[in-house]
Amino acid sequence: MSAIPTLEQLHALGPLQQPTYPDAGAVDAAVARLRTAPPLVFAGECDDLTAKIAAVSRGEAFLLQGGDCAETFAGVTADNVRNKLRVLLQMAVVLTYAASVPVVKLGRLAGQYAKPRSSDFETRPSPDGPVTLPAYRGDAVNGYDFTPESRVPDPQRLVDVYNSSAATLNLVRAFVTGGYADLRQVHTWNTDFVQSSPFGQRYEAMADEIERALTFMKAIGADPDEFHRVDFHSSHEALLLEYEQALTRIDSRTDEPYNVSAHFVWIGERTRQLDGAHIELLSKIKNPIGIKLGPTTTPDDALAYSARLNPDNTPGRLTFITRFGAGKIRDGLPALVEKVTAEGLNVAWVCDPMHGNTFEASSGYKTRRFDDVIEEVQGFFDVHRSLGTWPGGVHVELTGDDVTECVGGGEEIDEAQLANRYESVCDPRLNRVQSLELSFLVAEMLRAAGREGRASGVREQG
Ligand code: PEP
Ligand code: CO
Repeated sequence: MSAIPTLEQLHALGPLQQPTYPDAGAVDAAVARLRTAPPLVFAGECDDLTAKIAAVSRGEAFLLQGGDCAETFAGVTADNVRNKLRVLLQMAVVLTYAASVPVVKLGRLAGQYAKPRSSDFETRPSPDGPVTLPAYRGDAVNGYDFTPESRVPDPQRLVDVYNSSAATLNLVRAFVTGGYADLRQVHTWNTDFVQSSPFGQRYEAMADEIERALTFMKAIGADPDEFHRVDFHSSHEALLLEYEQALTRIDSRTDEPYNVSAHFVWIGERTRQLDGAHIELLSKIKNPIGIKLGPTTTPDDALAYSARLNPDNTPGRLTFITRFGAGKIRDGLPALVEKVTAEGLNVAWVCDPMHGNTFEASSGYKTRRFDDVIEEVQGFFDVHRSLGTWPGGVHVELTGDDVTECVGGGEEIDEAQLANRYESVCDPRLNRVQSLELSFLVAEMLRAAGREGRASGVREQG
């Protein structure tokens, strides 16, 4: 059995991206509250997800991971959670149906409240000259309002993260098992503004086919449970040590530590120091975990992460989420995949086509081009095809709403339109129509990869 590192041990490793709380007593009180809070997920559910990601690493399934860049407390409403879930269900059904590959559904939600920042401070103009305040680090840390009071880190917010995550997960669990995710609802997921878009119409046609197939299956007496519910898991970046450590518990069944705040947690690009606190904490837990790998990652780094985070080479335990940028993936990714594959390491390769493609529009909005997102996914598929390895999934920032945060896509959102409905408190997300479009494009790539894989036997390689 591994021991859970204490907060003192973790802080001694000099963790990056942690808030400086002004009141140590308030931190202790929040951590004490979290330690007594019931688990949000069960260890057995985490093990189920590990088994599903193992299938991804063997080339037998595809992972769809998506949600907001940063959740907000105000965003915990029934409409918002349902809209996010609905777009993920729609995308998953497109991928499953068009590519005939099982899709592992992983929400970037119910805990995604803390953000690493490139600068500790934010400066904004004012009539009296520029004003500088601590950066917003997500609702888990401080407030988005640009006032000195709101930007002070408040540890009570960690308890609010727990409560908001519990409310979100409760609703998600009700939706996915209580009839909303029933495949016979495949048309209902499409009944609003998205329906009239070209991709909404393409979806309608596909939903008609699925409905006919379901009717046929029912007529011949086949109506399995899988048609009426879906498996859906939660994930977030494990960033704030107070939160993640307080919610790491010894599972009574196995005597092993699990992070019970989410089924899957990942380490971000800015906190993946090999001797750092985040790697130390996640190396001890038994959940399936991910690590973001940006363009500076060397093949030896990748091997070292695997040795540290998955010494037993357990399939499904470790996911490499690459985020190179559209212009870098074709040059940067092959060396990593080659070395990891040559060493016989079991990992799932997932493409985050968002974080390497952010830029500032002339209007000042942080945005991404839809075409760059697609180009990075295409590069990811091409690299894996040329190496005979499996492109295991995509990790995307999206919303179920009609926002204008990323430019391009079928609706041809341009930079001037960004101001119309820009609601993200952090990175720009694909809107509902862009997300659906992405799923159709990825389904085509996946169908081609599946054909090639079957032809060359890639699925046996792992
Ligand atoms: C994120 O996923 O929101 C994020 C900050 O990503 P990365 O760590 O890859 O920069
Ligand atoms: Co982001």
